[in-house]
Amino acid sequence: MIVLMISLMQYALTYELDVNTFSNYLDVQNRHLHLEWLLNMDKKYINATSTYKFQVIGRSINKITLDIYKLNIYSTYLYNGLSLQHTIDNPYADSDQGQRLNIQLDKTYYKGQYIELSIKYSIDSRSRSISFMTKEQTSTKTMPYLFSQCEDANCRALAPLQDTPSVKQTYTATVIFKDTEAADVFMSADESKEEFQVLYRPQDQAGFTWKYKYFIQKVPIPSYLIAIVAGNIKKVPTSTGGRTFLVSEPDKIQAYTDELREMEKFMQAIEQYIGPYTWGTYTLVIQPPSFPIGGMENPLLTFANPTIMTGTGSGLDVTIHEMAHSWFGNTITCVNWANMWINEGFTVFLERKASLFHYNIPDDIKLNAIIGNTSMYQDMLGFGLDSNFSSLHPDTTGLNPDDSFSKIPYEKGYQFLTYLESIVGEVDFQQMLRAYLVQYKYQSIDQQEFQNFLLRYLYEQGVDDYSTKRYKILENWNKWVYSPGLPPVILDFSTVKLTEAYDYTQSYITADGKQPTKWQDYINFLHSQKQVFLEDLFKQAQNNLLKLNVIEQIDKDLKLTEEKDFELKFRWFRAILTAGDKTRLTQISDFLGSVGRGKMVYPVYRALNLLDHDFAVQTFKTHEAFYHPIAKNNIKNILGLKEISIQ
Ligand code: BES
Ligand code: ZN
Repeated sequence: MIVLMISLMQYALTYELDVNTFSNYLDVQNRHLHLEWLLNMDKKYINATSTYKFQVIGRSINKITLDIYKLNIYSTYLYNGLSLQHTIDNPYADSDQGQRLNIQLDKTYYKGQYIELSIKYSIDSRSRSISFMTKEQTSTKTMPYLFSQCEDANCRALAPLQDTPSVKQTYTATVIFKDTEAADVFMSADESKEEFQVLYRPQDQAGFTWKYKYFIQKVPIPSYLIAIVAGNIKKVPTSTGGRTFLVSEPDKIQAYTDELREMEKFMQAIEQYIGPYTWGTYTLVIQPPSFPIGGMENPLLTFANPTIMTGTGSGLDVTIHEMAHSWFGNTITCVNWANMWINEGFTVFLERKASLFHYNIPDDIKLNAIIGNTSMYQDMLGFGLDSNFSSLHPDTTGLNPDDSFSKIPYEKGYQFLTYLESIVGEVDFQQMLRAYLVQYKYQSIDQQEFQNFLLRYLYEQGVDDYSTKRYKILENWNKWVYSPGLPPVILDFSTVKLTEAYDYTQSYITADGKQPTKWQDYINFLHSQKQVFLEDLFKQAQNNLLKLNVIEQIDKDLKLTEEKDFELKFRWFRAILTAGDKTRLTQISDFLGSVGRGKMVYPVYRALNLLDHDFAVQTFKTHEAFYHPIAKNNIKNILGLKEISIQ
């Protein structure tokens, strides 16, 4: 009876809507996309034709609306060449969400019918998703470079699309490029053995020839997972096993391959917890330093920032995290950006399970949860502890969903799953996650559906104490998801390693500019422990307890200003700037000009801006051309160089 009721409920309920798409995706959904792109890398534009196979879902339709962002739309036409009328309008004009493309169909189409149409358009350097770089901005300086970054709502700057994680489609692509402008091109898809029909074949000219590459993604994916990279890049295998590869500019490739020799083992560690990797191969692209984030889980083609390559393996948690998205995010996807924890929280959970298996250092997992919790709390303070952006369900109506981006879906999501696991039991929870992946493979869901599944699964499995568990799961569920601020249940991640790190800070503070006896302890600290120490220094600085003579002594002992590991270096710079140290500004400016990863540059700009606004602005102006448009925009906000969007 209960089972029947629950399954009836499931069908009666519909998923949450996506408020950040202008498309009429509830009435019609794209099933397949084909892109034909002609890259003009030097001139920074792409000539494009996109072709769609839409299926009518609603009763009937006579128009299709799509999301676009600063695309030049030339024409829209049906598969048989019949031209269609289109208009562009601008709902939420001040929200930076882009424009709406309205395509008037030739007649009314009914439920179940397919509509095949094409759009001719171009992408130029105003694009928010494609970063066009000059050859001077690359490492080998021989060819221009381009890469895309679509999550969350930026693929509308790549093609007219139903830019919502709730619609999944397969895709194919033909990419045409000059052999002088790119050594190779890769997309978040397999290379196709079959050549597709090409609509436009440009003439070769003196000095270069046009090259053609064909791609196919057979798995239905949300449009934010479409990705491309082109430039002086090369692909090589990493580790044995035949399924992990690395793409980067050739000058660094050997060093990167060496550091990535465990890549296959990472994959096995994840599989050990969650089951087989079903996507085939896995390639990691190490992007130029201006890549604005740590990593992006484009299927078959993860993008990552070069700061993850520290020479010691300390940055490779990003690789494990992006691999883990192959299950959570890429196989099961959140239905809208309010449910981002369905992607990120689950991925952090799986990442930490795999790290534990691979490295077998339980204290490290706890410290990472503590570090994550600290940055989550800082993000909450930034939004306000009572803002719904501080909840696991931010309302992004009328806003660019990027505005709500924070550590909250990651860490509160992780903590929620850890809490649920403590109720359900480790083994049942693991089995439940495997069953969840089977049930919702290639679908997009919301958190309510996860709750329905969890309870149904436990009931059907006949687990011990079902009613008590059900009660406990439901008791705080809505508080976990909808209440802003700290979670309703505070989990204990304490470990002696944390106390050790704090004691180490104190030893420097009390030595007051002298060398503490245990100064060498740092050398044997876990990487996470070093981060905790540096965060503690920052806290001391905020409380005016970090004196300049102590900074001098620490730097003399630990050489942090010369540190090559940027995960540590940015924390050091943030701490000393907050303490009022103005003696290392040159090194800090150099640092800010050599890395474009938001996580590392934003906190340093924030601290620098508080200490010396003029110098912060001057530093930004010096390096402005180096940054990705997303990073540039955020730094301008931090420095007060443009109006901050109202939330
Ligand atoms: N999917 C995210 C990146 C992302 C999220 C891009 C939201 C745009 C909007 C990716 O998997 C990620 O979480 N990257 C992290 C690293 C990770 C180890 C936490 C990053 O870039 O910092
Ligand atoms: Zn992620």
